[in-house]
Amino acid sequence: MSEEEEELGTELIAELYKPPALLPIAPLKDPLLYAIETFPVTIIVGETGSGKTTQIPQFLYKGGWTNDGSQIAVTQPRRIAATSVSARVAEELGCQLGQEVGYSIQFEDVTSEKTKIKFLTDGLLLREMLVDPLLKRYSVVMVDEAHERSLSSDILLSLLKKVLRARPDLRVVVSSATLDAEKFLDFFAPDDGQTVHSKTKVDYETIVSIEGRTHPVDIFYLSSPTNNYVEKAVDTALLIHNSEPDGDILLFVTGREEIDDAIDMVADRIADLGPSAKKLQPLPLYAGLSTEQQMYVFQKADQNTRKLIVSTNIAEASITIDGITYVIDTGYVKLRAYDPVLGLERLNIVPVSKASATQRAGRAGRTRPGKCFRMYTEVAYDALDDATFPEIQRSNLAPVILQLMNLGIQNVVRFDFLDNPPSALVVRALDLLFSLGAVDAYGRLTKPLGARMAELPLEPMLARALLNAPSFGVLSEMLTIAAMMTLQGTAFVAHDGNNKQLERARSRFAVKEGDHVTLYNVYQAFTNPAVGKQSPQWCRENCLNYKAMLKAVSVRKQLRNSLDRMGIQENTLTSSDAIRVGGMEVTERVQRCLTTGFFAQAARMKSDGSFVAVGGDTVLWAHPSSLFFHRKVDWVVYHEIQESKGKVYIRDLTSVEMEWLTEYAPEYYKVKQR
Ligand code: CDP
Ligand code: MG
Repeated sequence: MSEEEEELGTELIAELYKPPALLPIAPLKDPLLYAIETFPVTIIVGETGSGKTTQIPQFLYKGGWTNDGSQIAVTQPRRIAATSVSARVAEELGCQLGQEVGYSIQFEDVTSEKTKIKFLTDGLLLREMLVDPLLKRYSVVMVDEAHERSLSSDILLSLLKKVLRARPDLRVVVSSATLDAEKFLDFFAPDDGQTVHSKTKVDYETIVSIEGRTHPVDIFYLSSPTNNYVEKAVDTALLIHNSEPDGDILLFVTGREEIDDAIDMVADRIADLGPSAKKLQPLPLYAGLSTEQQMYVFQKADQNTRKLIVSTNIAEASITIDGITYVIDTGYVKLRAYDPVLGLERLNIVPVSKASATQRAGRAGRTRPGKCFRMYTEVAYDALDDATFPEIQRSNLAPVILQLMNLGIQNVVRFDFLDNPPSALVVRALDLLFSLGAVDAYGRLTKPLGARMAELPLEPMLARALLNAPSFGVLSEMLTIAAMMTLQGTAFVAHDGNNKQLERARSRFAVKEGDHVTLYNVYQAFTNPAVGKQSPQWCRENCLNYKAMLKAVSVRKQLRNSLDRMGIQENTLTSSDAIRVGGMEVTERVQRCLTTGFFAQAARMKSDGSFVAVGGDTVLWAHPSSLFFHRKVDWVVYHEIQESKGKVYIRDLTSVEMEWLTEYAPEYYKVKQR
């Protein structure tokens, strides 16, 4: 912080934002514009907070890169980053969000004709390539946070490399917080001209490094390991609060539950502090946080109050909070890991990498020297992996392979990946796509089914069920269910943690067939002009999340439009189908239709109330949010599987008949039985 800034006083600084001129990236404006002008690919490396995300798009905009009517795309691995950063840039440019600066995330497009700078998730830019394979509307594509190695950003980089061959005018900016730059440089280097490899490389791309202006951070380790890192972290937070000078604390844990636990513990402990003591204000930070709650995190704390922000790894790089002087790193992170044998997507709690630990520590030294307390020993640190495994090596690849195929990439095994996915993951994905009918026996995308599945912004199983809906005469019902599924369990909310009230509300909509039809009932009631009237008041009374419900209405409309474009109408029930489904209750037709998409995720309830999957021996439990948490059932198909505290939960269950599984997926179950 400069002396002038300090003289302004903290009150005033809270009102103002840091003038972009003071950011470490400011002096690099001209060199950067020169590099981007000269080289198709520019890799930019700089500490988090140096101004890459907010400033580079503005440099380009002011530098004339949108004068011909084209746009600048900036991709983010997380939705929350796309929305919050675009708001910030709009503010800096003095325009309304959605005008010159906008954002676009799945099912939510806040852009207009006037939009020049567009923030979007990397996954959404991939989707845009389906209609605009050469990304013609963009003059520059900036792939931000590339070091995070999200599945979509990895794929996007591969595709951009191809696009550049067809569009020499396109400019690609890859931005990264750590020193992975060489890897990206090697990846983009043109490998055709065998001559003077390094020279070609120099002509084609360049690295620009932003000199950090970070302050030293002292690192402290535990002298012996702990078996309760959350508790230890809370102890440490209180110790800092009671003995260290001013400055906010950022505590990294792995997820919502740990955040809640930590905040509860802190609340108990501060009750013991004397009334005159300086206050400690614990605040949660995670991706699903409402905009209002986010405000508290970014706002300056009251006089005589120290903030303690308890966050997931979202605060590690994509979100910057000012005023942090102390970091407590529990050393763990929740990572997706796909088990191709069981077909389970698990969220495992695993040790962070050295790169993450360094990045977390760095958060303490942004404005002045800081301290980082690691809740592990130095020996444990030395044993950490250097970098986090890229997501492509631990994900369900079915959705992305389906998209690649629809972009005309038939041989995904030979695709130019930044890091190759393990073959077991590719094989599993192709198997699943085959059993869903999206891919034929030769590994080719089927038309129209596979292509349509790729075009729908839904995961393959749900897309398949939706596309089957007309043959069961339940398109309208399935559109609603698909829209409700995209809310990912956020439809119901407990008021002030009152779970009893929540359960009562849920039971008002519940039906014995299970969670999908229950959610359908919720939607019907919400949109019924005589019942929910789409009102916030009614949502409050029924423990429903009003914003989520509005989103479902909007998503349903968008899905409806997608199907319209494919020429799929509500009543395409042929007469023979009609006979087959004739006389069946609508609910049974919905159950059957869901089976045609989710047959691969079937499980049977045992007498103790747990479930076991077909051909597996993992013990599964109905998630507490499910109707079958309490009720008995025989066979179910489920939507999602999650692991939490050592138990594997299945979410969103619908009861089915065992015969339906073999009826709708005979091939799949023949193989399984052998
Ligand atoms: O992308 P990078 O991490 O290099 O930095 P940035 O996101 O462009 O942030 C530059 C500066 O703007 C930081 O000092 C942030 O504190 C500030 N900023 C903010 O105050 N509010 C935001 N929503 C985004 C950035
Ligand atoms: Mg950034």
